[in-house]
Parts: sequence; structure tokens; C-alpha cells
Amino acid sequence: MEKQEIRTFGRRHGKKLSERKSFLVEKVLPGLIPNESESNDILEIGFGAGEHVRELAHEFPNKIIIGAEPFVNGVAALLSAICDEKNQIKSEYKNIRIWPDDVRLMLNNTKFKFSEIWILHPDPWPKARHEKRRLLNSDFLNLLANNLADNGKIIIGTDHWGYYDWICEQVSKTNLLQNDSEIEIIRTRYQEKNMAQTSEPKYLILTNKN
Ligand SMILES: C[S@@+](CC[C@H](N)C(=O)[O-])C[C@H]1O[C@@H](n2cnc3c(N)ncnc32)[C@H](O)[C@@H]1O
Repeated sequence: MEKQEIRTFGRRHGKKLSERKSFLVEKVLPGLIPNESESNDILEIGFGAGEHVRELAHEFPNKIIIGAEPFVNGVAALLSAICDEKNQIKSEYKNIRIWPDDVRLMLNNTKFKFSEIWILHPDPWPKARHEKRRLLNSDFLNLLANNLADNGKIIIGTDHWGYYDWICEQVSKTNLLQNDSEIEIIRTRYQEKNMAQTSEPKYLILTNKN
């Protein structure tokens, strides 16, 4: 972020990490930072505890999956799930990379060609005075569009219908084409936790117009 960007996430730290998770963050995470020399095929933004990143890693064993998440406890949860008891990365998760920070920092400094960019349950910031914190504004959508491969797509899911409508408005200010979709995907941790209070998620698939 060359210019000072408005913060779009809540906490960076939660409860104190266990000794194992601290070890994984200190020793294993540095080896998983995305590397420009790799193909870097799929990006998931704001992965929470990373269950959908792991799903993607299983589904696309030959693709590199980058997960971006600034919440350290979420990063540690993903590391813990992808490493075995000897703190080695399990063979089925060797295609996962982790960007442990604001995704805009990564996208503003490196050019990618993602075939898919996933954003599941972005923070809705429902109070009017917090609206400026919403990540999926037209500037950010344009930034994502610039990092898509030909025929690449952005997949967004939210159970906050007000945010869904707001995102649709933002999309109309970009060069992206919107298709709604009823895709079947796993329930993320956020979705499980909020199911009683929220609506069924709505999904959008965005592609570049040309
Ligand atoms: C409501 S949570 C949803 C987490 C997960 N996708 C799920 O469904 O369980 C939104 C996540 O987006 C992350 N986030 C917010 N702004 C971000 C940014 N600029 N870059 C990367 N992640 C971000 C937050 O830290 C948070 O973990």
C-alpha cells in the first residue's frame, strides 16, 4: 500500500497462540510466502481459518493456491491444519502459499494472472459510518480485475444482502461483468457461526468484459 489505505479488517491478533502455533508462524510461514517465480494460479482473500483454502488445494493439486489473511490466529489455524505432528507440510497441502497481511499490499506490488480469486464472507461493516471500510469497492475490484488471467473469474459469497447490493453497485462502476450463481461450496467457519442470524449466502461471479 503506497498510499495509506483504509483498514478493512478488524483484529490482527486474537488469543495468545499455543507454543506449536507460534513455532509454525515463526519457522514454517516464511517458507510459504508467495514467490513471483511460481505460477500462482488461485487466490483466496480473507480466508479466516483456511478451510476453503484447504478445499481448493485438494481440488486443484497441480495449482498454486495463495491464501491472504492478516489475522494471525487465522494464519496459525491454517498452518496447524496443513502441518503434521513433525511440523512438516502434509503432502496434499504442498501447493498452499500464505500472504499473512492485507492483500492490497501484495497486489499493489506484484502482477499476477489468477484463474480464480475467491472472497467468502468479506467483513460487511454494516454500520453506515463504517461503510468506507468495505473491501470490495470499485477501486479494489479494478485491482482484482487487473490480476486476472484471460477468462479468469472472481467468486464472491456473502450472507449480508445489504453488502451484496452494495457490491453490485460497485461492480457497475468497473469493467467487470456480473453473473449470479448458485454454486455449491463448503460452509466456512464464519458462515457456520452466523447461520442462525443471517440469510442464505448470495454468490457473484465476475469476469473481465474483454
Ligand atoms: C468475516 S471474515 C470471513 C473469513 C472466512 N472467509 C470465512 O468465511 O470463514 C473476513 C476476513 O477477511 C479478512 N480481511 C479483511 N480485510 C482484508 C484484506 N484487506 N486483506 C486480506 N484479508 C482481509 C479479515 O481478517 C477476516 O478474517
